[in-house]
Amino acid sequence: MKPTLVSLSQDEFDLAHLAAPLPLEELLPGDRPWEVEIGFGKGRFLLGRAAVEPGGRFLGIELARKYYRLAQKRMRRQGLENVILIAGEALYLLSVALPAAFAGVVHVYFPDPWPKSRHQKRRLFDPESVDLVLGLLQPAGRLFFATDHLEYGGMVAEILGSHPALTVKSRQGPWEDGPRTNYEAKYENEKRPIVRLEAIRTDKAGDELIHPLTGRSLHAASRLPD
Ligand SMILES: C[S@@+](CC[C@H](N)C(=O)[O-])C[C@H]1O[C@@H](n2cnc3c(N)ncnc32)[C@H](O)[C@@H]1O
Repeated sequence: MKPTLVSLSQDEFDLAHLAAPLPLEELLPGDRPWEVEIGFGKGRFLLGRAAVEPGGRFLGIELARKYYRLAQKRMRRQGLENVILIAGEALYLLSVALPAAFAGVVHVYFPDPWPKSRHQKRRLFDPESVDLVLGLLQPAGRLFFATDHLEYGGMVAEILGSHPALTVKSRQGPWEDGPRTNYEAKYENEKRPIVRLEAIRTDKAGDELIHPLTGRSLHAASRLPD
């Protein structure tokens, strides 16, 4: 099995040699909230955000090693010192390696919809996994999501919309900053319909934070937000 790698502008570590949860504040000290992108592909969006917000902190997760390497090269070429890239599987990282509730914003764009039923356990927004993704968000944190897979988009809208800790808006039309990722640019060119969602964590202290459909099948209870 390939090791899970954690990369900064100057260093690269094997996750197995780092503390758990990952000591983000030691790796990249600062007082700004984090933005996270899951499945960053070639890194267009994440690195673009890091370049325009040098005071912000950015963390990306990508399963495909060749895209991770490409983004790592770009990060280093651009001298971006405010980014952590992780080459690994998102659900594994969310359940065992990342701290809870550290992100101000989470982005998930055009995730693989895994339409075959035997692959559904890999989906980020099933009732069993949605709380792991939402567990990244600080109170009042925001999640941005887009997909061209309309059936999957409808399911995600329903799952997020019925979460007691979220307020969800379905966005009509493109983002104000234009297409964010390579897939979005390609699909906009092709005039494909795209589902875009924005969710904000609006729970108050003491509110129920587990999705009602999750029941006993939650992947990791320890990921619930503080
Ligand atoms: C369809 S591509 C979209 C890439 C990029 N977000 C975009 O919109 O251009 C989906 C990406 O998610 C990555 N991915 C799929 N499953 C993943 C997982 N479980 N953990 C991390 N990355 C994953 C894939 O390797 C791929 O780069």
